[in-house]
Amino acid sequence: MLPLLGKRASGWLSWQVRRRRAHRPHVLEALIEDLHHEAPHQVAVTGDLTNIALEDEFVEARTWLERIGAPDRVTAVPGNHDAYVHVPRARSWDLWSEYLASDDAGEALLRDSSDRDESDGLEFPTVRLRGDLALVGLSSARPTPLFFASGALGASQRGRLERVPAVLGERDMVRVVLIHHPPMPGATSRRRALADARQLCEVFQRVGAELVLHGHLHRTRFARVAGPAGEIPVIGVRSASDVGERPGRCAQYHLYDIEPGRDGEPPRIGIRTRGYDESTGAFRSEESPSEGISSPR
Ligand SMILES: [Fe+2]
Repeated sequence: MLPLLGKRASGWLSWQVRRRRAHRPHVLEALIEDLHHEAPHQVAVTGDLTNIALEDEFVEARTWLERIGAPDRVTAVPGNHDAYVHVPRARSWDLWSEYLASDDAGEALLRDSSDRDESDGLEFPTVRLRGDLALVGLSSARPTPLFFASGALGASQRGRLERVPAVLGERDMVRVVLIHHPPMPGATSRRRALADARQLCEVFQRVGAELVLHGHLHRTRFARVAGPAGEIPVIGVRSASDVGERPGRCAQYHLYDIEPGRDGEPPRIGIRTRGYDESTGAFRSEESPSEGISSPR
């Protein structure tokens, strides 16, 4: 997929490198080969890069990220497994900082819209501006009690989020929000849910976004949440490393063609699905649940 004027293509995946028997490195190898062949402009990774947040898992995940692409092409947000236990930042997320952090333009925008200081370090939301596309990264990852896989943004992150999409919306950017947990209330059990999903949806309703991408459920999921000008598409992707021992779980990722709207028109978003085929050991084109996605504006 080659860059076209006024058009942005992005691949998006969610993976778990070594979780249970189902998540295999050879699937990730096939994934990386397929991603290099498809060559999307941008790749978004929606978390759970580690299994139990061991220090060597953070090092290993950094290597995987580098193999996918350079930080200016790959954006990640953390998942609940990446905060399984508290590990000092210097030996965990800091290893991925170039893949997590805002870019210079996004950082400047965040400083303009808040009291954020240059010395504050990694803080969510993050913002990366890529032409007409704005990637807004959220962190729902936080340590949880045993047998819980829940997440939360917290009031201060939601407060910062409220200001950023509003500014981006005024600039007519195509705002793509990345979050590990599904943002819809009731999307999963309380044990696995985003605790402040309702409050996050209230933010979306006030300030809007053009597309929200999440992981965590390991299933393809199409949903919508209310926005100020119509419903916002919310899409969950399967894991990108699952060998497919259970139906509906075999590794997939999505490719999006995003055409910014002009003169107040909403953007046009097309979706393609690539899935892993164990018989060939490679990814191939699969039927997408939806040909295109209408986004409000
Ligand atoms: Fe997760």
